[in-house]
Amino acid sequence: QRLDLDLAAIEKGGYEHFMLKEIFEQPQTIFDSFRGRLDVDQPLLTLSGLETIKDKLLAARRIIIVACGTSWHAGLLAEYLIEELCRVNVEVEYASEFRYRNPIIDENDVIIAVSQSGETADTLVALENAKKQGATIFGIVNVVGSSIARMADAGAYTHAGPEIGVASTKAFTAQLVVLELFALKLAEMKGTISTARLRELTAALHAVPEQVQWILDNQLENIKQVAAKYKDARDFLFLGRGYNFPIALEGALKLKEISYIHAEGYPAAEMKHGPIALVDENLPVVFVATQDPFYEKVVSNMQEIRARKGRLIAVVSEGDTVAEQLAEDVLTVPKSHEMISPLLAVIPLQLLSYYVGIELQLDVDKPRNLAKSVTVE
Ligand code: AGP
Repeated sequence: QRLDLDLAAIEKGGYEHFMLKEIFEQPQTIFDSFRGRLDVDQPLLTLSGLETIKDKLLAARRIIIVACGTSWHAGLLAEYLIEELCRVNVEVEYASEFRYRNPIIDENDVIIAVSQSGETADTLVALENAKKQGATIFGIVNVVGSSIARMADAGAYTHAGPEIGVASTKAFTAQLVVLELFALKLAEMKGTISTARLRELTAALHAVPEQVQWILDNQLENIKQVAAKYKDARDFLFLGRGYNFPIALEGALKLKEISYIHAEGYPAAEMKHGPIALVDENLPVVFVATQDPFYEKVVSNMQEIRARKGRLIAVVSEGDTVAEQLAEDVLTVPKSHEMISPLLAVIPLQLLSYYVGIELQLDVDKPRNLAKSVTVE
């Protein structure tokens, strides 16, 4: 029994839970996912999987992204990135819906499959159906040799290493890295990105491991206090716009999975179309409010919530002076390019869900009702 405990402790690298260990591995796993693929000096991007399907990619009139859960959130961010950088239409599909609604697919379609396990039944079957209809499959998978990796025509592995915690953390940020590289490489292939913008974005991506380390080194106590303060809330709202909207969705899913508190991610501007009726002094509202083109609008959305006594928690960029004044609690991340800062904004939300789960004395590594890989339909 004691030996088992020791082995488990060794496996957790001294951390209390796999989830915390995996959150803390992210500076390394983010670096590992762009190592050998990103030469920031030239800049030079190397994604051999894209070369394999280059003709299909350049001819594609649309790209479909198929995934579930957290991986679907990574796909949603990729939609915004690829449409902005590559000027090609992107559709993000829940695999479980996509596989049953008889989608219109042909040999001109490229499908990006995002999956940590590479074994998710809905994603796998959706891809098999699409492949039968002639689509080309590009897999972004974390488990080498998994079913989705094997059936894809090409792909790029995330290099997050084994993810034991049921709630996906390091695999998610690794997926975002590979999807950022995918969008940048495709834009370079299509000639839709300037060298200056490519240089700016590759440099911003290259800085992420250190910036994540900064968050882990400087925000932990603050996040623990916020978690203790709101652990008894019945509901949470997570709001964001643009590139931060997928992060609002991911923050809400993390909290649901780990703390069993009902949480909902929403586009910040959509609140006035109904959900703002929910807001009162018992409702914590987390804004992903890092510096980006929507910042002023997000600030006014924050004022709307504050006017209705909502409890404001804001993820802000270092040096922010406006959102910080409005919010009751602030989670700070280093400043970055708006297309890259989602990788930073998600870190405090992962930690928030972890510490709320700890406050509630829940099994954060194996939450009730959940499986690490949903291999059943
Ligand atoms: C994420 O925290 C969840 N465990 C879940 O939503 C997961 O992302 C989803 O089941 C997809 O899994 P996959 O990435 O292995 O395909």
